Amino acid sequence: MKFIIASDHIGYPLKQAVIEYLETKGETVFDAGPDTPNVSIDYPDYAHKINRAVTSGEYDQGILICGTGLGMSIAANKHPGIRAALCHDVYTAHLARAHNDANVLCLGAWVVSPQRTEGILDEWLKTTFEEGRHTTRLAKLDVSFNGQQQTLISLEDFQFGVALSPRETSFGPLLFMGQLERGMAAVAEAGFDAVELSLRTSQDVTASELEALLDQHGLGLSAVATGQSCLHDFLCLADPDSQVREAAVERLKSLILFASRFGTPAIIGGIRGSFSGSPETYAQQMEGAIEAVQECAGFAAEQNTSLLIEPINRYETNFINNAQEGLRFLEEVGEPNVKLLLDTFHMNIEEQDMHASLREAGDCLGYIHFADSNREALGRGHIDFTSILQTLASIGYKGIITAEILPIPDDLTAIQQTADFVKSLIER
Ligand code: RB5
Repeated sequence: MKFIIASDHIGYPLKQAVIEYLETKGETVFDAGPDTPNVSIDYPDYAHKINRAVTSGEYDQGILICGTGLGMSIAANKHPGIRAALCHDVYTAHLARAHNDANVLCLGAWVVSPQRTEGILDEWLKTTFEEGRHTTRLAKLDVSFNGQQQTLISLEDFQFGVALSPRETSFGPLLFMGQLERGMAAVAEAGFDAVELSLRTSQDVTASELEALLDQHGLGLSAVATGQSCLHDFLCLADPDSQVREAAVERLKSLILFASRFGTPAIIGGIRGSFSGSPETYAQQMEGAIEAVQECAGFAAEQNTSLLIEPINRYETNFINNAQEGLRFLEEVGEPNVKLLLDTFHMNIEEQDMHASLREAGDCLGYIHFADSNREALGRGHIDFTSILQTLASIGYKGIITAEILPIPDDLTAIQQTADFVKSLIER
């Protein structure tokens, strides 16, 4: 069996004795620290260290030792998938394995002697999980107090990207505007998988130029955003004037064609525009927009690609503000290649319960934007991204997550902070 072991300063001598004992029994043990005795450390730091090593399957079992074993077991059991058992004797060690399928053994160096520990270890090694009725009970252990299944977050479940714009725009939450090469280099350097490009026209960057840059930096293109057409050129899908709508559809088709060369979807966010004039005419404007999106969806299907409808908060538009309105719109459009894009910045303003909305979106969810509550880099606001990732994992979302954030305090720092934050979420 492969063990990973850690302790605090009180548990250090017993840790060394356990390593020696297990090795004489032919087991493999990785010592996750501390490396030196007599240096006071905080036990949670070492308990959290072994979490992913065990839940990922890299190690079969963990062992954590502090003075009482209590602090280590409390900390370890905060991680979904960890079943840490504090054992002071052979009997509890036996039942911890047989009934609880415990995957972390916690020991108290102030409580058990090295000799007693050997008996506990022998029992731990030879006892297997009894399964049967205990399997049903184990499944209930990873359910949190609000009845939500706690799902493990793993790096393999998600891919992460950053939204850039090859040209200057007054649309704020894009990084390295007008400096595509620098932006892509920074995104790749920070360890992201992809970039999303916000394009005003399909000539903002040529497909061959982009292909070369993607290759050079080992990045994918996650999606093409299209809102600049409405923002700068007033080409909006909900415009009451049918000629404007037609021009907006033509612009959108050229962007869809561009996106399709990279096998990626086009986003319909800002390009919807807003309903204008008297509210009695809104239904008609909605009709026009539905027809426009249906036409674009047909075109996208011919190019083997898809569209993403992004709800946007009420301060920016009056047309599709939340997930429910987005899902209703998807139903009206009725095209299988049109999915929902949910953005945590807009969701934080509009959704009553972000988790419930993500679950309601379910299979219709095609893409995610991450931005914190203030639209800055992840971690600079108050959105709980750990639980958002858990909800995404629980609904089986496997797509990409792109940071669409403001360049605050500056482009490079925003990218770096986001990368560090994502890493910390996943490794926690
Ligand atoms: C250290 O003083 C002690 O509190 C720790 O080793 C452990 O017993 C915590 O639960």
